Amino acid sequence: MSGLKVLVVGASIAGPATAYWLAKAGAQVTVIERFPELRTSGQAVDIRTAGVSVMRKMSGMEAQVRAKSTQEEGISFVREDGRPYGTIRATGNPDQQSLVSEYEIFRGDLAKIIFDLTKDDDNITYIFNEQIASMQQSESDGSPITVEFANGSATSKYDLVIGCDGATSRTRAIGFGCSVRDHIIPSNSWAAYFTINQDLLQGSRVGQGYSAVGGRFMSVGLDPSGHSRVLLMNIHSRGKLDATLPFRQASIHGDDSLKRYIAQHYQGAGWKSNYFMQEMMDSEDFYASEIVQVKLPSLYNGRFVLVGDAGYATGPAGGGTSLALAGAYILAGEVGKHTGDLAAGLKGYEQQMRPIIKEMQKIPPFITTILAPQTTWGIWLRNYAFAFIAWTGIADFAQKYLGAAFANTKTFPLPDYKWVA
Ligand SMILES: Cc1cc2nc3c(=O)[nH]c(=O)nc-3n(C[C@H](O)[C@H](O)[C@H](O)COP(=O)(O)OP(=O)(O)OC[C@H]3O[C@@H](n4cnc5c(N)ncnc54)[C@H](O)[C@@H]3O)c2cc1C
Ligand SMILES: *[C@@H]1O[C@H](CO)[C@@H](O)[C@H](O)[C@H]1NC(C)=O
Ligand SMILES: *[C@@H]1O[C@H](CO)[C@@H](O)[C@H](O)[C@H]1NC(C)=O
Repeated sequence: MSGLKVLVVGASIAGPATAYWLAKAGAQVTVIERFPELRTSGQAVDIRTAGVSVMRKMSGMEAQVRAKSTQEEGISFVREDGRPYGTIRATGNPDQQSLVSEYEIFRGDLAKIIFDLTKDDDNITYIFNEQIASMQQSESDGSPITVEFANGSATSKYDLVIGCDGATSRTRAIGFGCSVRDHIIPSNSWAAYFTINQDLLQGSRVGQGYSAVGGRFMSVGLDPSGHSRVLLMNIHSRGKLDATLPFRQASIHGDDSLKRYIAQHYQGAGWKSNYFMQEMMDSEDFYASEIVQVKLPSLYNGRFVLVGDAGYATGPAGGGTSLALAGAYILAGEVGKHTGDLAAGLKGYEQQMRPIIKEMQKIPPFITTILAPQTTWGIWLRNYAFAFIAWTGIADFAQKYLGAAFANTKTFPLPDYKWVA
């Protein structure tokens, strides 16, 4: 498919990975990103199953991920006074991840690694501060898509436009002629991330997690540079319809308003919550997002296609980063395999991805109960069950029942493709 002209929208994980593989398939790729620069915030994400397989096919990536890994050895769940009652550790086997993966890396570091692997490629161009304003494609004659940009880039024609702009993708709304909230399945939960300029774990490699009533979870993770990464996750009871509405309303008015909402919501949560809230108000790398799944009847519409969270966010099931890496590889592989027949390539992508998406979007049972019990009784029960599991060493056994995200690299075998570049 030499010479195919492709536009990729979004430079986080899915976008740069898609650019990497499409360039290998011989395409000329432009990546546009709405933000002025690569965003480096976020918590640790982990690479599992098919994601590990794709990473191993990307030149030098596994070594770089290892070098940047959070080196967190596990997470310890603590009581209100900070005393731990149970710890989950990584398995130590890179082919078999537990609740804690061997390939745990900060999202921003991972984005930077894939960006660096692609930024000097002659066939890949990055443009920041840019997004799509409109797209026109004529379904009947199969001619390229005409794209108008919002911030100065000249109107251009592309053979393929790929939306990699995350779960709340605006490009998806343009490409499918729907609204942004269509195809989003809320999980009634949200998460916020920021860094505190102090080592709260005092050199320990085991993170700490704490649950307060109302599904308010907090954790501190290790940052090798001597800082601490805080995660706040709020999980509402099932059945409570659209519990994230106040969060979304606050977010419309920007990060300051969102911080105020969160601070108010975490009032009286106990443990280190007061300190966290103070630090959050001044934090510069604050990032918060609703946790959703995305499910579409089709991943493409003519010459427009989705990769990553924009097409199949996994939400509370985890594993979104791995699925994005698999999607990037398979899309480029299928398009390259069906030279001259883009429709067949896109169809191949859809067919290969469907079973993987289906498995990865299964929400492991008990995940909400484990991370965020709603009541004092629930927390008490969870703590004791957890202490028991940790004490008896049956955690490995329990993890086997936590769903596909914790399966091994052989669970989703990837097709082999021939690459031209
Ligand atoms: C700043 C940030 C922090 C995150 N932190 C975490 C975390 O701590 N833990 C976790 O599990 N997941 C986190 N995520 C989500 C995680 O990165 C994804 O679930 C996963 O890696 C798949 O990524 P993606 O590339 O498909 O989408 P995303 O990572 O959501 O990236 C979408 C990219 O598209 C850009 N974009 C959005 N709209 C437009 C537009 N209209 N035009 C052009 N570009 C656009 C965004 O700025 C972003 O760079 C974070 C995402 C971001 C952007
Ligand atoms: C760029 O693309 C051209 C045409 O497909 C190809 O011949 C060349 O090898 C590619 N360059 C790199 C650095 O991959
Ligand atoms: C457009 O790009 C310029 C720099 O290229 C930037 O300063 C400006 O904020 C951008 N505007 C929008 C709406 O993205």
